[in-house]
Amino acid sequence: MVIKLARIGKLVRISGSVVEALGIEDITIGEIVEVGEEGLIGEVIRIFEDRFTAQVYEDTTGLKPGEIVKGTGKRLEAELGPGLLNNILDGIGRPLELIKNLRGPYITRGVKVNTLPRNIKWYFTPTVKEGDEVAPGDVVGTVKETESVTHRILIPHGIRGEVAWVKEGKYTVDQPILLVKNGTNEYEVTMKQYWPIRVPRPFETDGRLPLEKPLITGQRVIDTFFPIPKGGTAAIPGGFGTGKTVMLHQLAKWSDAKVVVYIGCGERGNEMCEVVTEFPKLKDPYTGRPLMERTVLIANTSNMPVAARESSIYFGVTIGEYFRDQGYDVALMADSTSRWAEAMREVSGRLEEMPAEMGYPAYLPDRIAEFYERAGRVKVPGKPSREGSLTIIGAVSPPGGDFNEPVTIHTLRFTGVFWALDADLAYSRHFPAINWLKSYSIHAGAVAEPWAQSFSQYSKKILGWWERKHMGFLEYRKTALDLLGEAAEVESIARVIGEASLPDEQRIILLASEILKEGFLRQSAFDEVDSYCEIGKQFCLLKLMIDFYLTASELIDRGVPFERVRSMPQIFKMMRVKEDPRGIEAIRELSLEIRGEFQKIAREYGIEGVVVGS
Ligand SMILES: Nc1ncnc2c1ncn2[C@@H]1O[C@H](COP(=O)(O)OP(=O)(O)OP(=O)(O)O)[C@@H](O)[C@H]1O
Ligand SMILES: [Mg+2]
Repeated sequence: MVIKLARIGKLVRISGSVVEALGIEDITIGEIVEVGEEGLIGEVIRIFEDRFTAQVYEDTTGLKPGEIVKGTGKRLEAELGPGLLNNILDGIGRPLELIKNLRGPYITRGVKVNTLPRNIKWYFTPTVKEGDEVAPGDVVGTVKETESVTHRILIPHGIRGEVAWVKEGKYTVDQPILLVKNGTNEYEVTMKQYWPIRVPRPFETDGRLPLEKPLITGQRVIDTFFPIPKGGTAAIPGGFGTGKTVMLHQLAKWSDAKVVVYIGCGERGNEMCEVVTEFPKLKDPYTGRPLMERTVLIANTSNMPVAARESSIYFGVTIGEYFRDQGYDVALMADSTSRWAEAMREVSGRLEEMPAEMGYPAYLPDRIAEFYERAGRVKVPGKPSREGSLTIIGAVSPPGGDFNEPVTIHTLRFTGVFWALDADLAYSRHFPAINWLKSYSIHAGAVAEPWAQSFSQYSKKILGWWERKHMGFLEYRKTALDLLGEAAEVESIARVIGEASLPDEQRIILLASEILKEGFLRQSAFDEVDSYCEIGKQFCLLKLMIDFYLTASELIDRGVPFERVRSMPQIFKMMRVKEDPRGIEAIRELSLEIRGEFQKIAREYGIEGVVVGS
């Protein structure tokens, strides 16, 4: 990186997080400036004649006109390399722990610290040798950063040539591990590199791959009904207290991604505090290792400077892309993108730009689109050939819970999955409060087929006998969604005429949908067993309830009164079996019990040939 000599200007105006200065003639848009005596970090966002405007990523209280502004010649970049995982960074990539140690918990202004630790020596194992040709994106070696993730070291952008030498052993991120020669040019490669955060990684046109593998989340309403593929995008809008944060935490904990980037953007500090205190105690269900070993947390809470909210989103995405380029599946969660949009609105207001809808700048839809477009599954450039994916999930907090507002509307234009949080469901403590009639996943078809594959992959050990049976998942899913749709109609009739006046074939629809809502859709994040539901168990539960519904409907068709079905003692058990620590074994037992009870009813009413389940 070329660092120009410091150029010094003078502050003339301060308006919140936006400052105006003059005196640096060759200043450029996007340049990082150090503002005031303390050297607060800012970025140039507008230049007009001899004046320029910068947004400042730190608290500007106390700044005065006349103070100096230094041009640094640098851009806003992310420092990438071993040491990212297991870390908590602020909105411009500074480790919070380090800032605290340097300045104490309160004063955090003007602190210049590196993202990556400089004191740790990582063991670098090369995968290339002297004489090999290397190009940008090639993997040249690995570092076992944590037990869960092996960090792959890549050739940075712009470097290609022949490996002159390569070292194996323990080095810090500052020490060269490889020398690349190209004619008379020599490049020393270290384990760290810098990527600009505001531009996506360049890809060859055929670099994007179709989205077909589901991101398994262990949340039934998502995996079974509204799945998100690896590399997909999802919006989770919901009013105050409808469960956005809890859901994002659940996804961060349980998703089967290799690396998780969690951005706390403008939300309450105590929510981030929960993450910080709770995550280190949690174990990854896939590896049994601490979850933090695969997690990067970015915290820019509501008490932190507003402009850094804006940058925190880009930092997070860039870190996500970096791990994706190593050939990993990465999942990124942002809570909440509304606060990010509000930061844009605030800065835009201070720039006195012409506002568009509800005061948001006219470029809001472009920014939202650019953010979600950085998701995807790609063939990564460089050797060896590898694929990686970046899944982006954004919470949206529409004011008053009304989805008819710019941030929600534009987000839904650019995301493939919509998990609609519903205030009524949340009010009646039905969590996750994802409305099954309003939500959708445009990928439901695409991921369904591999869903069946991953079913056998994840459940081989536990299932055994299930595996050899016909799956029929798609059929069960469809029956369940149809049932929920019909139940909504029947409910509206029942509200008028009363449930007892409904014909029996409609009452069974209501009962079966109640079982499905209570026993399947409802899933407490705080239940030790049910917080995570593996995919095989999801299928068993769904099958249990749909088989019950189909058989009960048939019996009712053939003359059994609804009340007789409703008196079955297994109904209550169906609603609770999800919490049984014995898992699938308990479901199987219950399904046999139900079969016995149905046979008993059939005998009582002299009905023959009823087939219960498959
Ligand atoms: N999956 C869940 N299981 C159990 N309880 C939940 C679940 N989701 C939400 N809750 C309950 O709802 C409360 C509010 O949830 P949460 O804080 O996630 O809402 P939010 O949408 O992020 O709210 P805000 O708009 O204030 O940020 C939680 O404290 C918890 O009691
Ligand atoms: Mg929240």
